[in-house]
Amino acid sequence: MDSKEIRDKFIKYFTDSPRNHKEIDPAPLVLENDPSTLFTSAGMQPLVPYLLGEVHPKGKKLVNSQPSIRLGDIEEVGDNRHITFFEMLGNWSLGDYFKDEQLPWIYEFITNELGIEKGRLWVSVFEGTKDVPKDEESYGIWKNLGLPDDKIIFYGAKKNWWSMTGTPEEMNVGHIGGPDSEMFYDFGEELHLHENSLYKNEMCHPNCDCGRFLEIGNSVFIQYKKVGEGKLEELPQKNVDFGGGLERITAVLNGDPDMFRTDLFSHNIKILEEKYGRKYGDSEMFDRSFRIVADHLRASSALISGGVYPGNKAHGYILRRLIRRAVLHAKILSPKGEYLGLPIPDLSENKIPVPVKSVSEIENVINEESGKFAKAIDRGMKKLETIIDKGTVLTGNIAFDLYQTEGFPLELTLEAAERKGVKFSLEDKKQFQEEFEKHKNLSRTTSAGVFKGGLADDSPEVIKFHTATHLLLASLRKVLGDHVIQKGQNITKERSRFDFPNNEKLTDEQVKEVEETVNKVIAENVPVKFEVLPKDEALKTGAIHGFNEKYADTVKVYYVGENLDDAISREFCGGPHVGSTGEIGRVKINKQEKIGSGLVRVYMTLEK
Ligand code: SER
Repeated sequence: MDSKEIRDKFIKYFTDSPRNHKEIDPAPLVLENDPSTLFTSAGMQPLVPYLLGEVHPKGKKLVNSQPSIRLGDIEEVGDNRHITFFEMLGNWSLGDYFKDEQLPWIYEFITNELGIEKGRLWVSVFEGTKDVPKDEESYGIWKNLGLPDDKIIFYGAKKNWWSMTGTPEEMNVGHIGGPDSEMFYDFGEELHLHENSLYKNEMCHPNCDCGRFLEIGNSVFIQYKKVGEGKLEELPQKNVDFGGGLERITAVLNGDPDMFRTDLFSHNIKILEEKYGRKYGDSEMFDRSFRIVADHLRASSALISGGVYPGNKAHGYILRRLIRRAVLHAKILSPKGEYLGLPIPDLSENKIPVPVKSVSEIENVINEESGKFAKAIDRGMKKLETIIDKGTVLTGNIAFDLYQTEGFPLELTLEAAERKGVKFSLEDKKQFQEEFEKHKNLSRTTSAGVFKGGLADDSPEVIKFHTATHLLLASLRKVLGDHVIQKGQNITKERSRFDFPNNEKLTDEQVKEVEETVNKVIAENVPVKFEVLPKDEALKTGAIHGFNEKYADTVKVYYVGENLDDAISREFCGGPHVGSTGEIGRVKINKQEKIGSGLVRVYMTLEK
């Protein structure tokens, strides 16, 4: 069964009766103007408002296949099962069905529809924490489905809790998540190779990283929201978020744990073999480079298709890094270590699930970036050769320094050492590796920081926009009518984006009127205050609130005015806000667009 068949079967299984899910389009890889994260890294990201309770236009049961990028895996690429760009098959219950349906369905899909051998499946379930109970329900369901006791393993929050930002303790305030139950395929004892494993002194188990087990799907029960340090709150609805890596499932059905031997990569590997005159599978060291080049070129092509160009910041920096690593490993693959260029992978629809821009544009971007870098690498090699020729003893620290300053990988250092006949011992390798691990942890923390960025940003700019957006909503209601409610909002340091129902875009006069209404309140320097009230009383004030949100028994109502009763704006809101409107400065609506049926999006900036 090839990847296309698996993808099609998954969608069909969930859209068919009695499951009756509706298929939804995948979200773009780069979520427009979303500062909270660089790339779509999980299917749940674009669905967060609906997991929180907003009504999804297609209903409560959804199915999709979501192209995603995970940056944490960049350094791991090179083995047979880690990739940066992948496709996540997903089925979703937005407050509809829960564990009793999800686990039997996904088990039926995997075993009956795909025909994966039951005897090779293991599952994991959540062992609980002091705040969240042990998941006995999932355990019971798996047992009823026929899984033997010793193949249902309990793990703690590090392994069996899912949120965008980690365990309940690590999670960002405002993020949602919950316990999960993963399915693993057991390739068998014969793969029980523990030399390089973190677990070499322990018994092999599904989460062991030796390669014997491959995780093929994860049912997350999104049920909690982090509301404060150490505080989880139950969501008003219980959700299911299933994600299964298409590449991994394809590998299982291909009967080979190596994802690079599936139809998703085999063409790309073949063109690399032809270009470099080597055979994939002949040597562990070259296989690693084959995989890195194949993965990074596929991911780079997807990013360029999504409108990303190489650069020094954010998305562009990641693309640059991927292309550069591909160049380094292409040099390792080429017979004399020279740079022979990068062949563009198969970009046909089924192999790369994003709309492909134009192959020649992708080629141009990759060629330009890789060509420049290949020259820089030559400089790194000269530097290394000078070091060796001068008789300086080559150490792990020198190798790491070259890696950090020139992006020069250990493999090339080893190769140069061998060619020049100088010693680079196991100890040196270890020293390099230690430095490398330190650096890796640092870059992990940095990329985790990106998640923090937008969601918990309380910079003065963001606070100003926050209050200005309350005024924008009040003014839109004044000018257009009470049908205007907040459908979506996204604030960065540069602008506020606001979505609301309206059949047409605003006329020029309406835009002007809204702007003037906001700016008038700003000019009057009106105080911004809040009151904490019991929910019922807060509702009586007529303050604007989300209809589908669950609020605590006491809520904060922010208002703009001397007192709550005759305030210009009243909203249920956690804040923070400016102290008085004069702090905001003047606003301008500089763009608007229609997004989907009956929704208008406006962008507002602050005038300097
Ligand atoms: N969000 C979960 C994951 O990425 C399941 O889709 O594993």
